[in-house]
Amino acid sequence: MTETITLLHQIADLDPATVSRQLLTTVAALGGTVFACRSACTTARWLRADTETRASLKQARRIRRSWRRLAPMTGLTVTEPAPKVQADGRPLEPKVRLPRIKLTADQFGVTVTATTLPRVGLEAWQDAADDLCNAWSMRRVKISQPRPGTVIARGFRREPLDTPLPSPLLREDGAPAVAPGSLSCRDDVLLGWDEDGNAVRLNLATGAHGLIAGVTRSGKSVTVNTLLAHASLMRDVQLVVIDPNLAAAAPWWTPAHRVSDATHPDQASELLAEIREEMHRRENLFWSARTDRITGFSPELPLLMVVIDEVAHYTRHTDRKAREHFEAHLLAIASQGAKYGVRLWLITQKPSADVLSTALRTNLSARICHRVDTTEDYLHLFPDGRDLDITAADRTLPAGVAITSVTGMPTPVRMRAVHLPTEACWRINDTLTAADHQVRPLPGTTDFTKAA
Ligand SMILES: Nc1ncnc2c1ncn2[C@@H]1O[C@H](COP(=O)(O)OP(=O)(O)O)[C@@H](O)[C@H]1O
Ligand SMILES: [Mg+2]
Repeated sequence: MTETITLLHQIADLDPATVSRQLLTTVAALGGTVFACRSACTTARWLRADTETRASLKQARRIRRSWRRLAPMTGLTVTEPAPKVQADGRPLEPKVRLPRIKLTADQFGVTVTATTLPRVGLEAWQDAADDLCNAWSMRRVKISQPRPGTVIARGFRREPLDTPLPSPLLREDGAPAVAPGSLSCRDDVLLGWDEDGNAVRLNLATGAHGLIAGVTRSGKSVTVNTLLAHASLMRDVQLVVIDPNLAAAAPWWTPAHRVSDATHPDQASELLAEIREEMHRRENLFWSARTDRITGFSPELPLLMVVIDEVAHYTRHTDRKAREHFEAHLLAIASQGAKYGVRLWLITQKPSADVLSTALRTNLSARICHRVDTTEDYLHLFPDGRDLDITAADRTLPAGVAITSVTGMPTPVRMRAVHLPTEACWRINDTLTAADHQVRPLPGTTDFTKAA
């Protein structure tokens, strides 16, 4: 410091006392600014947070305050012997070093990112996990080491899989939070959270076709509603819904581009034939854009999201010819459609081979498997499921939890799907109608099944 001041004095020919006074004033002002910025950030974080995250923020503050006391009790400190003795001959106090910690809070708990110390690495943290869990009042603490020199202790106040999790499409009071047309297919769709509190996201623009399976009341419709709601709110997506029971589709009936609640495969096939014609039309774009896959979507060239609920209703129909015709369309779209900007999502209670042929299934690479009855059903979605330590053939799997694998995930995870209740879907439908996104009236009011 003195050297710097002398240097400044030499350069600017200033009085060293003046320079040091000015420097002190500047440093104090800077300190004040940093403090003010930090307080502003903390306040902003608090104001932005939902109720659960606020509870975690409070817990994070307690963890920080007690860290100096807790670290030595859990064996996470290093004591360095004092190198010198004092002038009066008494030895200096040994120096106790604590891992430096950084805390972040979310709706599930607190993540503590710590630096390692000599002999206080991953193993020491793992040994301390139970004590940390008790001291921090967590339900579980998970220790990991993302890179050398850093250890992460993730404390869970609540288990992601055990709790209903709100959809980001809704505000805390349940009202719609997203304006029609404000989303694009390039925006990620938050499907849910895995058991370690990581978000599971799906991107329609870069993603693939998908398959959703699960027994009755396992949570299929709620998951499908998340997909359909996002698709309906995206300005560059056209939605085609085929739903023989009109179970999943009801709130999306009025704003969808095409809909069918037909019970015979022939009528469903008509819509699929239209999709194939559109694919054919889009073929020309490949020449002009010098590409072999459509990657940019717009209201003029929308992504086509085709959702078929209870697909077994058509693929196991008693009319063999109609059934085969429907299956041929389905296979053509599944194998060719992605590059033309079509995303096909099929929903079924049973994913067995008599419902979906292996050729068709292979093309549906995103998989969401809610609770199923048998291991065979589960293996139809996850052929290497026996090597995983998770299964969907589990009677205790709660509604809304699914084994999930989407593009970009290294392995399937157990996921709690976000909850978008039917009433909320209707409120989103109201916002779509108010914004002039209604394509047709509700069934029963006027009899037509095709978009105007
Ligand atoms: N993600 C979820 N979070 C919380 N509860 C859910 C979730 N998914 C489903 N449920 C509960 O389970 C019930 C049945 O779900 P639903 O989607 O209708 O099942 P399915 O379509 O498989 O028959 C819902 O009414 C709801 O109470
Ligand atoms: Mg259902």
